[in-house]
Amino acid sequence: MADLLIGQTLRFTGNPMTEGLGTARHSARGGVLIDAGRIAAVGEADDLRRAHPHARVTDYGDALISAGFVDAHAHYPQTAMIASWGKRLIDWLNTYTFPEEMKFSDLAYAKEIASRYFELTLANGTTSVCSYCTIHPESVDAFFSEAHRRGLRSYAGKTCMDRNAPDGLTDTARSAYDDSKRLLREWHGVDRLSYVVTPRFSPTSTPEQLEAIGALWREHPDCLMQTHLSEQTDEVAWVRSLFPTARDYLDTYEAHGLLGAGALFGHAIYLEPREIDRLREVDASLIHCPTSNTFIGSGLFDMDGLSSAGHRIGLATDTGGGSSFSMLRTMAAAYEVAQLRGRALHPAELWWLATAGAARALRADGQIGNLSPGLEADLAIIDLASTPAISQRSTRAGDIWEALFPTIMMGDDRSIVDVYVAGRSMKVKSLQNIENNIVR
Ligand code: GUN
Ligand code: ZN
Repeated sequence: MADLLIGQTLRFTGNPMTEGLGTARHSARGGVLIDAGRIAAVGEADDLRRAHPHARVTDYGDALISAGFVDAHAHYPQTAMIASWGKRLIDWLNTYTFPEEMKFSDLAYAKEIASRYFELTLANGTTSVCSYCTIHPESVDAFFSEAHRRGLRSYAGKTCMDRNAPDGLTDTARSAYDDSKRLLREWHGVDRLSYVVTPRFSPTSTPEQLEAIGALWREHPDCLMQTHLSEQTDEVAWVRSLFPTARDYLDTYEAHGLLGAGALFGHAIYLEPREIDRLREVDASLIHCPTSNTFIGSGLFDMDGLSSAGHRIGLATDTGGGSSFSMLRTMAAAYEVAQLRGRALHPAELWWLATAGAARALRADGQIGNLSPGLEADLAIIDLASTPAISQRSTRAGDIWEALFPTIMMGDDRSIVDVYVAGRSMKVKSLQNIENNIVR
């Protein structure tokens, strides 16, 4: 039987950052019809009720029905050490990250953390993530098996590193290629799962390993490739010393076949003009990780300049360099970072970045990230009055943007009424908690 969800709805007909705010479409009393795991129709509630009298109706009242959030860059193995104090990137990796990642040779531990990670992200309204794993194949099996169990569209790959990491946390050029290939064959395209070719970043891979991973990507061009680029100035200087003949940081990837459409570059803060041009030319994706960039003290991503130049940009938590699992908190940080660079991002732009924009960065906008007929029914239901502080603000709102912005800035998992994964309610919160809610 088809399901009809009723509430406020928000969808996009284009990219509000480049095509204008008119691409954001709001309905105060809209509906989303779900059939066989997909969105079958989107429109006004009354019209959909008339056209589909036998659909099972769930009325969310004033809550907002949106596409589920898409987190375009995360490290699920860093779940248990998120919010670790006092270090910048390289020290933070050595002090906190690498010791934690060592534990993922143990499949049982990897599964425990993967399960906890998906519970946390779903509770925050995130229905798709693109995650790094660790060097251990077990960490990839744990991620994909837990994602599969929940029916999630998910992206991940084995992190490859063959230098500048502790013993027990390195592979080799050969084993990185072999293990990645085996995992890719096992998981890529299984239901909603996608394998992502994943060299961690240039400092932890030898040129030989980058070459081997580049060869693997060439053999599987339908996979995405994810890595880090120009996050901190010390890191950029380190890359220059490790690759003395490279033109710049991006060139350390480009020279080994690791640049192209389908490449995802996390952070991308300290870019040279050549890098900016080249990334645009090949239409690679830049992934903005604002809570991480402030938390680890990295810097201020140039959202305005890069989006105006036509770059493909997604938004992400970068858990656990980022200090939150919430894409609401991540939108708030993106707003604050852009303010520090003199640009006020509109709520429609922020929401797009966390849904359709992030999906587009993952080249998944044909499947997820929006309320459009034919897309998979991954949804988040958002309470726009989830706390007294938000409620006293949103009740005075004159339009949807004034109603939405307090939740963007102050919302958290309490704002998430429920999530739907391929049309199935994950029952994040009991419906009885929702004021004005009528279930028939
Ligand atoms: N650069 C290389 N590895 C990492 C990581 O795990 N987190 C962040 N934020 N940057 C990185
Ligand atoms: Zn990262």
